[in-house]
Amino acid sequence: MKSLAGKKIILGITGSIAAYKAAFFVRLLVKSGAEVKVLMTESATTFISPLTLSTLSKHPVITGIADGDEWSNHVELGLWADALVIAPATANTLAKMANGICDNILNAVYLSARCPVFFAPGMDLDMWTHPSTQANIQKLLDYGNRMIEPESGELASGLIGKGRMAEPENLVKALDDFFRKVSPSQTLAGKTVLITAGPTYEPIDPVRFIGNHSSGKMGKALAEKVVERGGQVKLVLGPSKLDISQPGIEVIRITTALEMLAAAREIFAQADIAIMAAAVADFRPKFAAKEKIKKKTGEEEMTIELVKNPDIAATLGKMKTKDQVLVGFALETEKPLVNASRKLAKKGFDFIVLNSLKDEGAGFNHDTNRITLVFKDNKIKEFQLKSKLDVADDILDAIEQII
Ligand code: PMT
Repeated sequence: MKSLAGKKIILGITGSIAAYKAAFFVRLLVKSGAEVKVLMTESATTFISPLTLSTLSKHPVITGIADGDEWSNHVELGLWADALVIAPATANTLAKMANGICDNILNAVYLSARCPVFFAPGMDLDMWTHPSTQANIQKLLDYGNRMIEPESGELASGLIGKGRMAEPENLVKALDDFFRKVSPSQTLAGKTVLITAGPTYEPIDPVRFIGNHSSGKMGKALAEKVVERGGQVKLVLGPSKLDISQPGIEVIRITTALEMLAAAREIFAQADIAIMAAAVADFRPKFAAKEKIKKKTGEEEMTIELVKNPDIAATLGKMKTKDQVLVGFALETEKPLVNASRKLAKKGFDFIVLNSLKDEGAGFNHDTNRITLVFKDNKIKEFQLKSKLDVADDILDAIEQII
């Protein structure tokens, strides 16, 4: 969870049986590199000891507006934090937050906080479904707070239903998703990334060509995610309807495989990373007619002589230095792992991204993809179907492991 490294989190714990999960939550946050300060309401201290939380967070736990003769400055705390997370948030605390009631340190910090506020309800089913709780939650959401939804299951009362506070892993994930979106780590700062994307069109004559169904969406998603991580993109893009005009992405539009090869070779010499997402035509007509080819009377068949296109990825594989990373794609319909491994070795990739046209929602033109990463040491990593943007994140995470 790189996005949490260095983040300052205030965790407010209220009096619910789910308070025991706060210990695991603090541990995960600290492990992710976050700095955590814990506030507890008085009733929370009856469920879990402040000593446990001060030990895990490595900070004293604040339980009152004044601790002995020292005043806890709620305004300063509210300004210190990058996020305030109230977990578990009881129906009582939610009601106070929704109505601006300030009778403990947690509510005082909540009212002073200028950072994003998350609340993770933890309560019994009947309290959760009560119209007043739901109205309070709606009010809090309208104020711009963010809810980490409770989960369904067996509750402390024995009832089964919604109301269980989200598991600590899911709390961390919600924060990670949030920070990734607002301030993605600049892990690719200073890196130039070549991406090939889209189809190539190999002309038969001025009106016809050999092409394929690639839309360029996978390459565009990769380009956007590289920029989000601080890198510079040179996107060599075959004929595509996509409009790509974003600072940080230089688009080099080409039509044929030969043009893609020329552009990719030149860029790769200066690039740190290359990702070959294009669907390149393996063959092109030996001759492209200058004029439109006409049907001849009585002609039932026509033969177009094809010649092999150069393999762009393999060409870069031969140029590649030890400091460069080269990532390929494999679009398969049969024996996917065998074919992907063969391409990985043949083309000199560091790893290959396998996607199969047999998987629903994967491959050409979809906004989603389902990939398996195949590495040089034969290790494989499978992913579920997800948006191409999220797939791009998985690919970039794997690249960052190499660099
Ligand atoms: O553009 P979208 O609609 O979003 O679809 C995305 C995609 C399905 C095109 C993409 O996810 C994908 O799988 N791209 C690779 C498609 C392909 O042609 O795979 P391949 O198995 O034929 O080629 C293997 C690798 O060699 C690829 O990295 C390819 O870019 C590269 N190659 C292939 C032939 C060639 N002459 N030169 C190459 O560089």
